[in-house]
Amino acid sequence: MTKIAVLTRDCAGVNAAIRAVVRTAVARGLLVEGVLRGYRGLMDGEFVPLEHRSVSNIIGLGGTILKTARADRFRTEEGQKAALANLRARAIDGLIVIGGNGSLAGARVLAEQYGFPVVGVPATIDNDVPGVESAIGADTAVNVALDAVDKLRDTATSLERIFVVEVMGRECGWIAMQVALAGGCEEVFLPEKNVVLGALCEEIKEGSRRGKASWIIVVAEGHSSASAIASSVTEATGLETRIAVLGHIQRGGRPTAMDRILAARLGHAAVEALAEGRTGGLVRLDCGRVTFLPFGAAGEVKTTEIESDYHLLKVLS
Ligand code: F6P
Repeated sequence: MTKIAVLTRDCAGVNAAIRAVVRTAVARGLLVEGVLRGYRGLMDGEFVPLEHRSVSNIIGLGGTILKTARADRFRTEEGQKAALANLRARAIDGLIVIGGNGSLAGARVLAEQYGFPVVGVPATIDNDVPGVESAIGADTAVNVALDAVDKLRDTATSLERIFVVEVMGRECGWIAMQVALAGGCEEVFLPEKNVVLGALCEEIKEGSRRGKASWIIVVAEGHSSASAIASSVTEATGLETRIAVLGHIQRGGRPTAMDRILAARLGHAAVEALAEGRTGGLVRLDCGRVTFLPFGAAGEVKTTEIESDYHLLKVLS
């Protein structure tokens, strides 16, 4: 193996992972190319050489220096073959893909259908990659959302108000549950769980009779919206509500120490795996140790145990 390439999606900690990939590769005497704009750049032949100094001072930078893009064409055989032709034309012997389920599915196609050596690095704020306990970017996203919840709590308490906060997570309520637990929130709505709104409204009315005046309710975007929940609560209780939709601010920003260290470990391990011929899978942290998980060994959907955390939230709130 003499030359590898690295392709990314974006979230906090991805740049720290690129840095780890490039510096580990250089230390091993490998050449590295960055693929610009994700799979779209792979199909269009957009590559940039990367060396030790190309990744200076990016460890604390959010987003991805390689940029990224949606690439529906990569779902077609024509797109996949164009990508492969570009890798071969540049004499690239192995590819590292840093991203979430969509990016890793693409990596799996290249590995399993075309036999190209690929190693995946899980990076997604949703933390929903099957077989992976912690993806890069997830810890930062929760901390960003928690900072917002803490600030909203100040106003909620002072004005004795109900706030509904919408966080990201289209198919997975991981961020919502973490933020609700860490922020001491009173309720959480997740795509995975059917919480009865009427029961919450009764709880609010009952709380209000006892003098409890401020509430923070978290909703994952995959469940519904902050505005829908807030209007239903106001309608049922007659109490004033306010909403905050956090959106993409959760995906960007300075990565936490935890995400930077995870990125360093996984980026490093991905190069080692490629160089040692362990390909067709992803690297992950497993009980404090980095291990390799073949793509085929992971399930399609990550199922997280939420009942016990939900119970904990309700007992403590
Ligand atoms: O998968 C990560 C994620 O940030 C989700 O939480 C969110 O629903 C989605 O991506 C947003 O995608 P886009 O940036 O394409 O709107």
